[in-house]
Amino acid sequence: MKKIYLIGIGPGNPDYLTVKAINTMKKVDVFFLLEKREKKGHEDLVKIRKEILKRYLDRGTYRVVTAKISERKKSGKLYKEGVKTWRGQKAEVITELIKSKMKDGENGAFLVWGDPSLYDGHLEILQHILKQGAVNFEYEVIPGITSVQILAEKHKIPLNRIGETIVITTGRKLKEYSPAEVINTVVLLDSYSTFKHFKDTDIDIYWGGYLGTDDEILLSGKLKDIIEDLKKIRKEAKKKKGWLMDTYILRQPEGSESNE
Ligand SMILES: C[S@@+](CC[C@H](N)C(=O)[O-])C[C@H]1O[C@@H](n2cnc3c(N)ncnc32)[C@H](O)[C@@H]1O
Repeated sequence: MKKIYLIGIGPGNPDYLTVKAINTMKKVDVFFLLEKREKKGHEDLVKIRKEILKRYLDRGTYRVVTAKISERKKSGKLYKEGVKTWRGQKAEVITELIKSKMKDGENGAFLVWGDPSLYDGHLEILQHILKQGAVNFEYEVIPGITSVQILAEKHKIPLNRIGETIVITTGRKLKEYSPAEVINTVVLLDSYSTFKHFKDTDIDIYWGGYLGTDDEILLSGKLKDIIEDLKKIRKEAKKKKGWLMDTYILRQPEGSESNE
């Protein structure tokens, strides 16, 4: 039987790999690297994965197979449908890789950004492939450190204060929240500075771009006081590197009515 590992590698720095991830990598015969050709900065993300392999494994003990996948088209389709179609295409590529690039009894792996449980499609794709029945394999998840944890680490904050709720959401969903619903709201996947919807409130923000990497940028404070700086920093970072990954937490200040 073939076996696939989904190995969480942390959000951009080889220092954030767990011992379990490293020990699992040592058992892997073939690593699959998926390259999104059209996506700006994607080569940086592939480079980090190659650095991880070089740092932790002996040369000649594993194979690397790269495959091109297309970027998700932001078509007129509904968001969920668009993602489903794109994942379907990715599933076809992965099926073919497992079928043709692994021998029976071998271990294969995908190096998953951050942790496979957080806004990542690999698990659902593997489950979809097994359901389709075109190829058979076992699979295992190796957890990784998420961008959310690095955000908390770098700002030296817990994600909640005593007994409070934590919500993890996307920029797309954040638009639907009222200020009173924002207690500890962690936001990922926000290309549009959606925090601007809360600029007239008393909410605090803890923001991090390129967390854990050499280009890391941190900013925190009362949103209404730093919003212009934040918008500028995001714009300049995108221009300089061609891409930006950022995560932030919006938080009611201590003692405000909504968090009691
Ligand atoms: C598709 S999600 C993947 C999340 C990942 N599985 C994790 O555990 O962090 C991508 C989003 O994660 C966040 N992210 C990932 N890496 C990051 C980093 N190094 N710094 C800041 N945010 C990051 C950004 O919000 C980005 O849009």
